[in-house]
Order: sequence, then structure tokens, then C-alpha cells
Amino acid sequence: MELVKPDEKYLSSYAEAVEEDLIHKSDAVRAFGDPDTIIEKSYRYEHGIDLKPGYVKATTLWLIDQGKFIGEIGIRHELTPALLRFGGNIGYKVRWSERGKGYGTKMLRMALQYCKNALGLRRALITCDDDNIASIKVIEHNGGVLEDRVTNRLERGIVTTRRYWIEIER
Ligand SMILES: CC(C)(COP(=O)(O)OP(=O)(O)OC[C@H]1O[C@@H](n2cnc3c(N)ncnc32)[C@H](O)[C@@H]1OP(=O)(O)O)[C@@H](O)C(=O)NCCC(=O)NCCS
Repeated sequence: MELVKPDEKYLSSYAEAVEEDLIHKSDAVRAFGDPDTIIEKSYRYEHGIDLKPGYVKATTLWLIDQGKFIGEIGIRHELTPALLRFGGNIGYKVRWSERGKGYGTKMLRMALQYCKNALGLRRALITCDDDNIASIKVIEHNGGVLEDRVTNRLERGIVTTRRYWIEIER
């Protein structure tokens, strides 16, 4: 199992994951990217090319197991006032057919090492909806400490957001 930068080698597997999302529409808010543009978009994001105002550089990594695309994790290199309230440093998603198998927990564990080794981050903020039990478990299994809950007005409505910090050096 490895975390890699988006790579053409795994694009057809990524496209299958996108299809799974379309079938299970309920999760459309956090759908994967467009297979046709994801590689270039990730590169630009990582290198800060033409970032939208208020956006920060971010690295996209894919979890690959035996050649299969399993999940995507995005690491924002720094925090803004907006990201401190919602979004944090790290966001992730496991493809529909591979959920509940421990991949989410492992992917975050591996990404935290990447944060430390490649980006020099010593702690990471992760936010999630107050009712996202799977994500709460993934965060807490990785040492997340709940700082607080805040109310956010998002496009999808008013949500209660949990804010967790993970000390990477521990
Ligand atoms: C959150 C997410 C990444 C978890 O990935 P995963 O691979 O299923 O996670 P794991 O298999 O490591 O499961 C972690 C824990 O959550 C539990 N869990 C998984 N799916 C669950 C669900 N739908 N409801 C309740 N618990 C669930 C698992 O049983 C496990 O619990 P345990 O450790 O006590 O046994 C995945 O559900 C997902 O992609 N969700 C949509 C995107 C999202 O919400 N991302 C997080 C944004 S903050």
C-alpha cells in the first residue's frame, strides 16, 4: 500500500471510483475530481499556480493498494482564517466500494507522516461534520484531540463542525 501523487498509471482505476460516486449520489458534495483534469489540477494546486483568491497550496495524494486506486487525501500546506473554521489542513475520501475496511484510518496515518517529512508540519487541523461518525473515528484513531465545535454557514446549509488537532511529533 502506498501514497502517491496523482499518476496516469492509476487513472482508469480513479475513473471507476468516480463512477461509484455517481451511483451513490448521496455523497456528491465530496465527489472525486474529474479524471480528465485531476493530474494537471493537482500539480497546479501543489505549486500554487493560478490559485483562486484565498486558496493556499495543497498536495493531493492517492492511496494505492495492489495497483488499485482506493482513496484521495488533500493536504493544505497552511491555514487561513476560513480554513481554521472549516476545512483544516487535511481532507480525505475513500472510494465507495472500499469503505469500512480500515483504509481511511491507514491513509490518514500515512498522510501525517508525509506532512511531517515533506512539509515540515508538526500538527494538523482536521475538521469534520459533527455527525460524520466514520471520519470522527478515523481522526480519533490517529490521535486527534477535539478542540471545539463551531457553527458554519455553508452552501449546503448550517452545519456543526468538529475541529480536531493532531500532534504529529508525538
Ligand atoms: C470518512 C471515510 C474516509 C472513512 O473511510 P473508511 O475507509 O471507511 O474508514 P475506516 O475503514 O478506517 O473506518 C474507521 C471507523 O469508522 C467506522 N465506519 C466506517 N464507515 C462507517 C459508517 N458509514 N458509519 C459508521 N461508522 C463507520 C468503521 O467501522 C471504523 O470503526 P472502528 O475503527 O471502530 O472499527 C469514508 O467514509 C469517506 O470517504 N467518507 C466520505 C468523505 C468524508 O466524509 N470524508 C471526511 C471529511 S472530514
